[in-house]
Amino acid sequence: SQTSHSGDAGRRWQPSSIHTIGFSRDKDQSLRPVIPAPASMRQMPGFFTIGNKKISQLVIVNENQENKKLATLLQSYLNVHFGLDVPIASSGGSGAAFSAGVKQIVLTRVMPRSTDLKAINKEAYHLKISPEKITISAEDSGPGLFYGLQSLFQLMNTTEGNLEIPCTEIEDVPRYPIRSLMLGVSYHLFPVSYIKELIDLMATYKLNTLHWHLTDDTGWRIEIKKYPLLTRVGAWRSATQIGKDAQALDDQPYGGYYSQEEIKDIVSYARERYITIIPEIEMPGHSMAALAAYPWLGFNQKYKVATTWGIYNEIYAPKDSTFAFLEDVLTEVMALFPGPYIHIGGDEVPKNTWATSPFCQQLIKTEGLKDEAGLQSYFIRRIEKFINANGRKMIGWDEILEGGLAPNATVESWRGTSGGIEAAKQGHDVVMAPTDYVYFDYLQGKEEEEPLGIGGFTPLSKVYGYDPTPKELSAAQQRHILGVEACVWTEFIATPAKFSYMIFPRMMALAEIGWSPLKSKDYTDFLRRRLPVHLERLDRAGMVYRVPEVIGITDTTLTGSQFEFTLHSAVAGAGTHIYYTLDGFDPDLTCSIYEQPLKIRLSKGQERVLKARVITASGKKSVVTTTVLHGK
Ligand code: ACM
Repeated sequence: SQTSHSGDAGRRWQPSSIHTIGFSRDKDQSLRPVIPAPASMRQMPGFFTIGNKKISQLVIVNENQENKKLATLLQSYLNVHFGLDVPIASSGGSGAAFSAGVKQIVLTRVMPRSTDLKAINKEAYHLKISPEKITISAEDSGPGLFYGLQSLFQLMNTTEGNLEIPCTEIEDVPRYPIRSLMLGVSYHLFPVSYIKELIDLMATYKLNTLHWHLTDDTGWRIEIKKYPLLTRVGAWRSATQIGKDAQALDDQPYGGYYSQEEIKDIVSYARERYITIIPEIEMPGHSMAALAAYPWLGFNQKYKVATTWGIYNEIYAPKDSTFAFLEDVLTEVMALFPGPYIHIGGDEVPKNTWATSPFCQQLIKTEGLKDEAGLQSYFIRRIEKFINANGRKMIGWDEILEGGLAPNATVESWRGTSGGIEAAKQGHDVVMAPTDYVYFDYLQGKEEEEPLGIGGFTPLSKVYGYDPTPKELSAAQQRHILGVEACVWTEFIATPAKFSYMIFPRMMALAEIGWSPLKSKDYTDFLRRRLPVHLERLDRAGMVYRVPEVIGITDTTLTGSQFEFTLHSAVAGAGTHIYYTLDGFDPDLTCSIYEQPLKIRLSKGQERVLKARVITASGKKSVVTTTVLHGK
């Protein structure tokens, strides 16, 4: 992307090779740390084992020529992570590759007869690991096999240089068809290489949708050939807010955009990983950047690309010329993004300019509309008609309910869940994205202990505990809940490193609420047995993430004479430890390492302060948790 930003220090970042894994595990760590938790998983005794570099022991059998790419993906994964050079054979049964003693990994479209997946769909798969053979079956050559491979990768382990995979049978199908992350790029934008890294990690966790918020008041980020000023003017603002104070600006021009070539590259990269991108072109509000480029889209005032975010009165005028412009823009957008959905925004639209415009008041009369809310509904319906006529579906934020929903609209519920509930009751499809549970720009801890952020509080446990299907809906209405999306608005996220900090590990929790049936979910198992292995991987890969607080201690005061603390870290691996103090100082690398349950005795009136934090192999620190102990 053509980005530039003076005062560039914050935008430097380290590309990380997330693929150099080959991790080993402590004996007490889970051998089957699959995230998201499969619909069903059976543990069996024994291992599928390949000795170090003994390549003649293994063959990949690809029974379906259509999924040649996936066989190649497996082949290269085994090569990159385990140094194995494994041949691919096209069908089973004969030839040198199938001689006795050669183990097989079979990719097939034939589901085992025993399989009892109720809803076999394109994303479902069956994975069976036995000592001599691994089979991944899926209905089609599509995402099912890909997801089966992701689960297999997560089960791969090295012990003394050998590849060891615990014998396991998984039958898996997602709970929801849409499992999504929203990437905001208006206030800050991110390199193409980082977006690809993000897509890789989304695919690892079986997320299948990336909602790309491409336009807003503070910057237009997508090249539109017919309207070059959208990026020449609309992609640049004169200053950026410093910290929390909207009055404090840095007076440094900031901007950039994604060219159509870059977008095609990202769309195709995502598609290869079974991720569909939903582009968002905001209307009728949050359109200052477009108005700055072409003032005739509004009311011909003097417009500027906004330097700070908010809700601006300046919005599109509902004139024929504006609709013609939007249709042109959407035509280019649809040519770039082949997925079924186009997001049109629709949130936070102040009606002042429409209320005071003689043109708008006349339009309300001629169209027989009730008021300005009716005019917004007219605006969105007119756009929906165009989108539908082009074979696509329209999705918008829950404000599009106001004044009446467009006939085929899908609603994204962000101001809580009531918009989604109302839409489902009206028979419309819904994606749930309530701020309180899945806004990943919200803080993960206490404000004073977290990086600068927008506020809010959506810690990992709260994300994990969210159930996107509202209980107050009937079974038929519940079927309209298509899925869940976490939103990452980037007003306070200026670097890829901070973006990663905000989404990891919350994205793993998102994956589990979007994929796993309720019966497979278990926060303790997630936090203590499975997540640690994944965070160890991120740690080794040099990826930034938020280290969860020590498990087994809270910020509190306890009274008693004997205490015992059993502590756990949500990051596994050699070199990662829990450090603690009993002297009131914050633990650092010079302090005691936790090795066994801490037993503390206090006499009456004594006070001790126990502080604990995790410091990972790469030096990342959790916040300090403090328990004050009073002797009784
Ligand atoms: C939103 O957060 N304004 C959709």
